[in-house]
Amino acid sequence: MPETSIACTVNGQQVKRTVPDHRLCRDFLREDLLLTGTKAACEDGMCGSCSVHLDGQVVKSCLLLAVELDGRSVTTIEGLASRELHPVQQAFIDNFGFQCGFCTPGFIMTVAALVRDSPDLTADQVREALVGNICRCTGYTRIVQSCLDAARRTAAVPAPGHG
Ligand code: FES
Ligand code: FES
Repeated sequence: MPETSIACTVNGQQVKRTVPDHRLCRDFLREDLLLTGTKAACEDGMCGSCSVHLDGQVVKSCLLLAVELDGRSVTTIEGLASRELHPVQQAFIDNFGFQCGFCTPGFIMTVAALVRDSPDLTADQVREALVGNICRCTGYTRIVQSCLDAARRTAAVPAPGHG
């Protein structure tokens, strides 16, 4: 089985591993690095539960190979907060946007990049931006409210850089 050595940054830490060439980034994060906040909820890029930041941009880690991480920087839900919760995490708590463990980490990662890049959002823009993240059960009202609140909070503080 072909393998490749990679060196990348994950949540601010240098990581060096040898991985099978076919290993998914999602499985590398969850199973090799035990960062299980990134969820595996579909197998085909449809649900957004596996969303992480790659060099600051949202990607679905089930559509990425671990070997593609070489030389790059990944942030997972575990790496989003610093000493305090990330404003998006706090906004989800305060607006009851935390609904279940399968979809919430992916929503948070998508929203964190969204409000970082576009803090002045309407509800329609939020719904459009979240089209790649699926809630299978509860609905989106609280999630959209959380995102709008997160945008307000993000606009009120200096940008911390790519998260
Ligand atoms: S697990 Fe990646 S999009 Fe569903
Ligand atoms: S799938 Fe998580 S709340 Fe619906």
